[in-house]
Amino acid sequence: MTALANQHQAINLSQGFPDYDIDPALIKLVNQEMLKGNNQYAPMPGILSLRESVSEKMQALHNSYYSPETEITITAGGTQAIYTAIAAVIKPNDEAIIFEPAYDCYAPTVRAFGGLVKPYEMTPPFYDIEWSMVKRLVTANTKLIIINSPQNPCGRILKEEDIKQLKIITENTDILIISDEVYEHIIFDGQQHLSLSQFPELKERTFITASFGKLFHCTGWKVGYCLAPEMLMKEFRKIHQFLVFSVNTPIQHALHSYLNSNQSYLELASFFQNKRDLFRSLLKPSKFTLLRCEGSYFQNVSYENISAEKDVDIAVRIAKDYKVACIPNSSFYARSTDFKTLRFCFAKKDETLEKAAELLNKI
Ligand SMILES: Cc1ncc(COP(=O)(O)O)c(C=O)c1O
Repeated sequence: MTALANQHQAINLSQGFPDYDIDPALIKLVNQEMLKGNNQYAPMPGILSLRESVSEKMQALHNSYYSPETEITITAGGTQAIYTAIAAVIKPNDEAIIFEPAYDCYAPTVRAFGGLVKPYEMTPPFYDIEWSMVKRLVTANTKLIIINSPQNPCGRILKEEDIKQLKIITENTDILIISDEVYEHIIFDGQQHLSLSQFPELKERTFITASFGKLFHCTGWKVGYCLAPEMLMKEFRKIHQFLVFSVNTPIQHALHSYLNSNQSYLELASFFQNKRDLFRSLLKPSKFTLLRCEGSYFQNVSYENISAEKDVDIAVRIAKDYKVACIPNSSFYARSTDFKTLRFCFAKKDETLEKAAELLNKI
């Protein structure tokens, strides 16, 4: 969709990345680290000081301790952390339960290692999870459950009841969990992020994946991290070592200094809530039905009042004829299920959102 947006000079609300500048202080820190000579390979798990900062952040926010030496690894973005965790645990014929609509790297990575994807399809408008149906997907071969809260693309967040059910389903089993928490700070209306690190029975079987790209608006830097109990992290690092070996050195040093001096991530919720609210109010006159968005930086809409077209077709038509690019949500379902919804990214300048809404309101 980004290629199509460029081809048709459409406003790109498809891919999830900000169109505004990042903090110049962070850029300055990277420059300083480069000038200081921090330009050679970093240690395989990441520089210790950054792992220590991540550990302190988890302790402060979730009262959950991860050892910087043995339980934290810096990765080349959240996606590499997810890939590596899947590669570390999935063997042929292992099954992985995935909640769809899902971030698009989970299923192909499971399949790449011979695993079988068991999708649980959540449906608009609320994307609720009926756990009795999830239980039916569990078999003796279930190795992995992948969860994502706040969830891309549907903006759903995990609630206490979901956590309770996840505990019940995994109790007395060897099932492992990947908890993709890249949008942990982008959560709205005063709701709290339930990190799996807070629940000991789940923490002991979970890889948590996170992204500095989402934390500091620098998605192009591709730096993130993975947290897991030592036994799981050992397996993770066996893959990490030969997949990337280590991650960008000056940026790791800069992120460490920035994290220690700056808690701007605590303001992400209100920053993005303002953008969500602005975009929703701008789209009020449109014929779209706005779906709930509890977190992440995506607004989903139903276009049932506009057309019966396939979501892919209408997305292409909107990009070509109305010059706004979005993502058809069928692309986030393994079976390409089409619920006639589209995803718009609102991590954009207010003026970008205003221009886009003006065009979308003409449909
Ligand atoms: C749910 C989810 N997980 C992981 C990622 C990947 O993060 P990164 O860009 O750090 O690889 C994204 C990026 O959009 C995402 O939406």
